Amino acid sequence: MLIDEIKQGNMPEHVAVIMDGNGRWAKQHNKPRLEGHAKGAVAARQIVEAAAEAGVKYLTLYAFSVENWNRPKDEVSGLMSLLLKSLAEQFDDLIKNNVRLLTIGDSSLLPQDVLLQVQHAIARSSSNTGLTVIIALSYGSRQEIVNAVKNILQSYKQNPFDIENFDEEKFSSYLYTKDIPDPELLIRTSGEIRISNFLLWQISYSELYFTDILWPDFTKEDFYKAIANYQHRERRFGKISEQVKS
Ligand code: IPE
Ligand code: IPE
Ligand code: MG
Repeated sequence: MLIDEIKQGNMPEHVAVIMDGNGRWAKQHNKPRLEGHAKGAVAARQIVEAAAEAGVKYLTLYAFSVENWNRPKDEVSGLMSLLLKSLAEQFDDLIKNNVRLLTIGDSSLLPQDVLLQVQHAIARSSSNTGLTVIIALSYGSRQEIVNAVKNILQSYKQNPFDIENFDEEKFSSYLYTKDIPDPELLIRTSGEIRISNFLLWQISYSELYFTDILWPDFTKEDFYKAIANYQHRERRFGKISEQVKS
Protein backbone atom coordinates (compact mmCIF):
# COMPACT_ATOMS: atom_id res chain seq x y z
CA MET A 1 0.00 0.00 0.00
CA LEU A 2 1.12 3.50 -0.79
CA ILE A 3 0.93 4.62 2.83
CA ASP A 4 3.43 1.94 3.89
CA GLU A 5 5.71 2.98 1.07
CA ILE A 6 5.69 6.69 1.90
CA LYS A 7 6.20 5.93 5.60
CA GLN A 8 9.62 4.53 4.65
CA GLY A 9 10.53 7.86 3.06
CA ASN A 10 11.08 11.39 4.19
CA MET A 11 7.71 12.51 5.55
CA PRO A 12 6.93 16.22 5.24
CA GLU A 13 6.33 17.70 8.67
CA HIS A 14 3.84 20.24 7.34
CA VAL A 15 1.52 19.90 4.34
CA ALA A 16 -0.67 22.82 3.23
CA VAL A 17 -3.67 22.33 0.95
CA ILE A 18 -5.68 24.71 -1.24
CA MET A 19 -8.94 22.79 -1.32
CA ASP A 20 -10.35 24.02 -4.62
CA GLY A 21 -13.05 22.83 -7.02
CA ASN A 22 -16.18 22.39 -4.89
CA GLY A 23 -18.25 24.63 -7.18
CA ARG A 24 -17.17 22.85 -10.36
CA TRP A 25 -17.84 19.49 -8.76
CA ALA A 26 -21.39 20.63 -7.98
CA LYS A 27 -21.87 21.87 -11.53
CA GLN A 28 -20.66 18.55 -12.95
CA HIS A 29 -23.23 16.75 -10.81
CA ASN A 30 -26.04 19.23 -11.51
CA LYS A 31 -26.20 20.22 -7.87
CA PRO A 32 -26.20 23.55 -6.04
CA ARG A 33 -22.76 24.88 -5.12
CA LEU A 34 -23.36 24.29 -1.42
CA GLU A 35 -23.61 20.57 -2.01
CA GLY A 36 -20.16 20.76 -3.48
CA HIS A 37 -18.97 22.46 -0.32
CA ALA A 38 -20.65 19.81 1.84
CA LYS A 39 -18.86 17.08 -0.14
CA GLY A 40 -15.69 19.11 0.25
CA ALA A 41 -16.08 19.05 4.02
CA VAL A 42 -16.27 15.24 3.92
CA ALA A 43 -13.10 15.14 1.82
CA ALA A 44 -11.36 17.43 4.31
CA ARG A 45 -12.23 15.05 7.14
CA GLN A 46 -10.70 12.18 5.16
CA ILE A 47 -7.51 14.12 4.54
CA VAL A 48 -7.17 14.98 8.23
CA GLU A 49 -7.28 11.24 8.91
CA ALA A 50 -4.84 10.52 6.10
CA ALA A 51 -2.36 13.07 7.43
CA ALA A 52 -2.60 11.68 10.96
CA GLU A 53 -2.11 8.12 9.70
CA ALA A 54 0.91 9.08 7.62
CA GLY A 55 2.55 10.85 10.56
CA VAL A 56 2.38 14.38 9.18
CA LYS A 57 2.61 16.81 12.13
CA TYR A 58 0.90 19.92 10.69
CA LEU A 59 -1.87 20.11 8.12
CA THR A 60 -3.03 23.54 6.95
CA LEU A 61 -6.35 23.63 5.08
CA TYR A 62 -7.34 26.73 3.10
CA ALA A 63 -11.06 26.80 3.84
CA PHE A 64 -12.04 30.41 3.23
CA SER A 65 -10.02 33.35 1.95
CA VAL A 66 -10.52 37.05 2.73
CA GLU A 67 -11.44 37.39 -0.94
CA ASN A 68 -14.16 34.75 -0.50
CA TRP A 69 -16.17 37.28 1.56
CA ASN A 70 -17.00 38.81 -1.83
CA ARG A 71 -18.95 35.76 -2.99
CA PRO A 72 -22.77 35.91 -3.16
CA LYS A 73 -24.29 36.35 0.32
CA ASP A 74 -26.08 32.98 0.22
CA GLU A 75 -22.90 31.10 -0.52
CA VAL A 76 -21.01 32.89 2.26
CA SER A 77 -23.69 32.21 4.86
CA GLY A 78 -24.02 28.62 3.62
CA LEU A 79 -20.29 28.12 4.05
CA MET A 80 -20.38 29.55 7.57
CA SER A 81 -23.28 27.25 8.54
CA LEU A 82 -21.43 24.31 7.06
CA LEU A 83 -18.38 25.17 9.10
CA LEU A 84 -20.46 25.27 12.29
CA LYS A 85 -22.10 21.98 11.41
CA SER A 86 -18.83 20.23 10.53
CA LEU A 87 -17.16 21.42 13.71
CA ALA A 88 -20.10 20.28 15.82
CA GLU A 89 -20.30 16.86 14.14
CA GLN A 90 -16.63 16.08 13.90
CA PHE A 91 -15.16 17.69 16.92
CA ASP A 92 -15.53 14.88 19.50
CA ASP A 93 -13.93 12.50 17.08
CA LEU A 94 -11.04 14.83 16.41
CA ILE A 95 -10.47 15.30 20.15
CA LYS A 96 -10.46 11.54 20.64
CA ASN A 97 -7.88 11.26 17.90
CA ASN A 98 -5.60 13.72 19.71
CA VAL A 99 -5.94 16.41 17.01
CA ARG A 100 -5.06 19.98 17.96
CA LEU A 101 -6.99 22.67 16.12
CA LEU A 102 -5.69 26.14 15.23
CA THR A 103 -6.88 28.82 12.82
CA ILE A 104 -5.09 31.52 10.87
CA GLY A 105 -6.77 34.56 9.36
CA ASP A 106 -8.69 37.67 10.30
CA SER A 107 -11.15 36.34 12.85
CA SER A 108 -12.65 39.80 13.41
CA LEU A 109 -14.60 39.33 10.15
CA LEU A 110 -16.26 36.08 11.28
CA PRO A 111 -19.89 36.00 12.47
CA GLN A 112 -20.09 35.86 16.26
CA ASP A 113 -21.45 32.29 16.47
CA VAL A 114 -18.71 30.95 14.22
CA LEU A 115 -16.04 32.82 16.14
CA LEU A 116 -17.26 31.48 19.48
CA GLN A 117 -17.46 27.89 18.30
CA VAL A 118 -14.03 28.07 16.69
CA GLN A 119 -12.52 29.56 19.85
CA HIS A 120 -14.17 26.85 21.91
CA ALA A 121 -12.79 24.13 19.65
CA ILE A 122 -9.29 25.61 19.78
CA ALA A 123 -9.40 25.81 23.57
CA ARG A 124 -10.74 22.29 23.97
CA SER A 125 -8.05 20.77 21.78
CA SER A 126 -5.13 22.89 22.97
CA SER A 127 -3.45 20.19 25.04
CA ASN A 128 -3.69 17.53 22.32
CA THR A 129 -0.33 16.31 21.07
CA GLY A 130 -1.15 14.58 17.77
CA LEU A 131 -1.69 16.16 14.37
CA THR A 132 -2.12 19.95 14.39
CA VAL A 133 -4.84 21.00 11.93
CA ILE A 134 -4.64 24.66 10.99
CA ILE A 135 -7.74 26.02 9.28
CA ALA A 136 -7.07 29.09 7.15
CA LEU A 137 -10.31 30.93 7.68
CA SER A 138 -10.88 34.47 6.48
CA TYR A 139 -7.22 34.21 5.53
CA GLY A 140 -5.24 36.46 3.21
CA SER A 141 -1.47 36.39 3.00
CA ARG A 142 -0.87 40.02 2.05
CA GLN A 143 -3.17 41.09 4.84
CA GLU A 144 -1.22 38.83 7.23
CA ILE A 145 2.02 40.50 6.16
CA VAL A 146 0.65 44.05 6.46
CA ASN A 147 -0.77 43.14 9.86
CA ALA A 148 2.66 41.87 10.91
CA VAL A 149 4.32 45.11 9.81
CA LYS A 150 1.78 47.15 11.78
CA ASN A 151 2.44 45.10 14.89
CA ILE A 152 6.20 45.40 14.43
CA LEU A 153 5.90 49.20 14.20
CA GLN A 154 3.69 49.25 17.31
CA SER A 155 6.11 47.19 19.34
CA TYR A 156 9.01 49.35 18.10
CA LYS A 157 7.20 52.46 19.31
CA GLN A 158 6.69 50.98 22.74
CA ASN A 159 10.06 49.37 23.08
CA PRO A 160 12.60 50.28 20.36
CA PHE A 161 14.62 47.24 19.38
CA ASP A 162 17.88 46.79 17.52
CA ILE A 163 16.84 47.09 13.86
CA GLU A 164 20.21 45.67 12.73
CA ASN A 165 19.37 42.37 14.38
CA PHE A 166 15.86 42.15 13.03
CA ASP A 167 15.86 39.02 10.89
CA GLU A 168 13.61 36.50 9.10
CA GLU A 169 12.96 34.58 12.27
CA LYS A 170 11.89 37.72 14.10
CA PHE A 171 9.62 38.73 11.21
CA SER A 172 8.03 35.27 11.13
CA SER A 173 7.16 35.61 14.80
CA TYR A 174 4.70 38.36 13.85
CA LEU A 175 2.78 36.19 11.37
CA TYR A 176 -0.34 34.15 12.19
CA THR A 177 1.85 31.09 11.65
CA LYS A 178 4.37 31.86 14.38
CA ASP A 179 5.64 28.64 16.01
CA ILE A 180 4.48 26.61 12.98
CA PRO A 181 7.23 25.34 10.65
CA ASP A 182 6.96 26.31 6.97
CA PRO A 183 5.16 23.73 4.81
CA GLU A 184 7.49 21.48 2.83
CA LEU A 185 4.63 20.61 0.48
CA LEU A 186 1.73 22.66 -0.90
CA ILE A 187 -1.08 20.86 -2.73
CA ARG A 188 -3.71 22.58 -4.89
CA THR A 189 -6.58 20.65 -6.41
CA SER A 190 -8.92 21.45 -9.34
CA GLY A 191 -6.31 22.28 -11.99
CA GLU A 192 -5.81 25.95 -11.10
CA ILE A 193 -2.12 26.81 -11.13
CA ARG A 194 -2.03 29.76 -8.75
CA ILE A 195 -1.49 30.57 -5.10
CA SER A 196 -4.55 32.80 -4.49
CA ASN A 197 -3.03 34.83 -1.64
CA PHE A 198 -2.06 31.80 0.45
CA LEU A 199 1.01 31.68 2.73
CA LEU A 200 3.19 33.81 0.45
CA TRP A 201 6.00 34.16 2.98
CA GLN A 202 5.80 30.61 4.30
CA ILE A 203 5.91 28.76 0.95
CA SER A 204 9.00 30.51 -0.39
CA TYR A 205 10.78 27.13 -0.62
CA SER A 206 7.86 24.70 -0.52
CA GLU A 207 7.44 22.01 -3.15
CA LEU A 208 4.28 22.71 -5.14
CA TYR A 209 1.95 19.95 -6.30
CA PHE A 210 -0.99 20.61 -8.60
CA THR A 211 -3.63 18.08 -9.55
CA ASP A 212 -6.72 18.31 -11.77
CA ILE A 213 -8.82 16.34 -9.26
CA LEU A 214 -11.66 18.44 -7.83
CA TRP A 215 -11.50 18.73 -4.05
CA PRO A 216 -14.66 16.67 -3.28
CA ASP A 217 -13.12 13.79 -5.27
CA PHE A 218 -9.71 14.02 -3.56
CA THR A 219 -9.06 10.84 -1.53
CA LYS A 220 -6.56 9.63 1.04
CA GLU A 221 -4.80 7.76 -1.74
CA ASP A 222 -4.49 11.00 -3.74
CA PHE A 223 -2.98 12.67 -0.68
CA TYR A 224 -0.43 9.85 -0.35
CA LYS A 225 0.35 10.17 -4.08
CA ALA A 226 1.19 13.83 -3.56
CA ILE A 227 3.52 12.90 -0.70
CA ALA A 228 5.14 10.15 -2.79
CA ASN A 229 5.71 12.70 -5.55
CA TYR A 230 7.27 15.08 -3.01
CA GLN A 231 9.58 12.34 -1.77
CA HIS A 232 11.04 11.92 -5.26
CA ARG A 233 12.06 15.55 -5.56
CA GLU A 234 15.50 16.92 -4.84
CA ARG A 235 15.30 20.03 -2.68
CA ARG A 236 18.46 21.98 -3.41
CA PHE A 237 17.84 25.31 -1.66
CA GLY A 238 20.14 27.05 -4.12
CA LYS A 239 22.94 24.49 -3.88
CA ILE A 240 23.99 22.01 -6.54
CA SER A 241 22.94 18.39 -6.63
CA GLU A 242 26.31 16.99 -5.50
CA GLN A 243 26.28 19.16 -2.40
CA VAL A 244 22.80 18.04 -1.45
CA LYS A 245 23.64 14.35 -1.92
CA SER A 246 26.72 14.37 0.27
C1 IPE B 1 -13.16 25.88 -2.89
O1 IPE B 1 -14.04 25.56 -3.92
C2 IPE B 1 -13.88 26.24 -1.62
C3 IPE B 1 -13.86 27.67 -1.30
C4 IPE B 1 -13.19 28.59 -1.93
C5 IPE B 1 -14.66 28.08 -0.17
P1 IPE B 1 -14.67 26.66 -4.88
O2 IPE B 1 -15.96 27.10 -4.31
O3 IPE B 1 -13.68 27.75 -5.13
O4 IPE B 1 -14.89 25.81 -6.18
P2 IPE B 1 -14.75 26.30 -7.68
O5 IPE B 1 -13.38 26.89 -7.84
O6 IPE B 1 -15.84 27.31 -7.91
O7 IPE B 1 -14.93 25.06 -8.49
C1 IPE C 1 -8.84 29.75 -2.92
O1 IPE C 1 -9.80 29.30 -3.81
C2 IPE C 1 -9.41 29.79 -1.55
C3 IPE C 1 -9.82 28.50 -0.99
C4 IPE C 1 -9.63 27.33 -1.50
C5 IPE C 1 -10.48 28.58 0.28
P1 IPE C 1 -10.63 30.30 -4.74
O2 IPE C 1 -11.46 29.45 -5.59
O3 IPE C 1 -11.30 31.31 -3.90
O4 IPE C 1 -9.46 31.02 -5.55
P2 IPE C 1 -9.50 31.76 -6.95
O5 IPE C 1 -10.54 32.83 -6.84
O6 IPE C 1 -9.85 30.75 -7.98
O7 IPE C 1 -8.13 32.29 -7.13
MG1 MG D 1 -12.27 27.97 -6.55
